[in-house]
Amino acid sequence: MYVCSAAATSAALLAIGATLLTGPVAQAAPAAGDRRGDTLVIAHRGASAYAPENTLAAVDLAARMGFDWVENDVQRAKDGELVVLHDDGLARTTDVEQRYPDRAPWKVKDFTAAEIATLDAGSWFGSAWAGARVPTLTEYLRRVDRNDQRLLLEIKRPELYPGIEADTLRVLREQGWLDRAHVKRKLVIQSFGADTVRTVHRLRPDVVTGFLGTPAVADLPAYAAFTDQINPSHTTITAGYVAAVHRLKGPHGKRLAVSTWTVNDAAGAVRVDDFGVDGIITDRPDVVRDAVG
Ligand code: G3P
Ligand code: CA
Repeated sequence: MYVCSAAATSAALLAIGATLLTGPVAQAAPAAGDRRGDTLVIAHRGASAYAPENTLAAVDLAARMGFDWVENDVQRAKDGELVVLHDDGLARTTDVEQRYPDRAPWKVKDFTAAEIATLDAGSWFGSAWAGARVPTLTEYLRRVDRNDQRLLLEIKRPELYPGIEADTLRVLREQGWLDRAHVKRKLVIQSFGADTVRTVHRLRPDVVTGFLGTPAVADLPAYAAFTDQINPSHTTITAGYVAAVHRLKGPHGKRLAVSTWTVNDAAGAVRVDDFGVDGIITDRPDVVRDAVG
């Protein structure tokens, strides 16, 4: 949402000692080039071009680089614990195949959190990261809070984990993330599952939500009933589409926002910034910040 975007961008700029840029994106309706600098930069899976994705190291690196918004992916282990991982399997980003050779296909849902906690989630990315772990959502929230960062939390593959919406909200509540300060400024919950976003909105109407995808323009009003953000792939959008989203108000009475993914190069960042997006989700937040900040 724009209020969050401006605050977050300002905080990041202050953190790196840059000039503070202010001014609402929408009020004066400036040309796209004039509003450059207001766009929120969100570190995708942490600073995942430079540290192993979805680890605490990736979150810490994003913080050191001056980025307070991070994105992650949440799934559920066999014993019900929520863990932070992108794939529904553990093989790509951990040493699970070596550690548990008899347990193919190594799905997250088939391993307990205790088992997952023993895996090396860093060596695949580089030997310097050996020993990084798959964090539980609890561990992750504590670290993001300690870093005074903000979280774009994705509920990943909800069709595999019935009830994960309530589970996620429970962990967020237990960790203090559903208090007024967090809900107002620090948290967005998004998913590719429209039913999941709708469920989160029903369970906690105060929480800011995002739908991952590019609904047809004609369908956008229906989405605006339960989501505050439409977050599409950058390959699917035009300036006209972003404007169509912006014409609508979400469930909290504010203009629907657009954060697009995953933009990792300067030219791509400038392109979507000129479309008028509110946020850019990127593995290379430094590159995007240099391009549009
Ligand atoms: O936050 C948007 C983006 O993360 C969605 O795609 O596959 O990277 O989770 P994916
Ligand atoms: Ca994601």
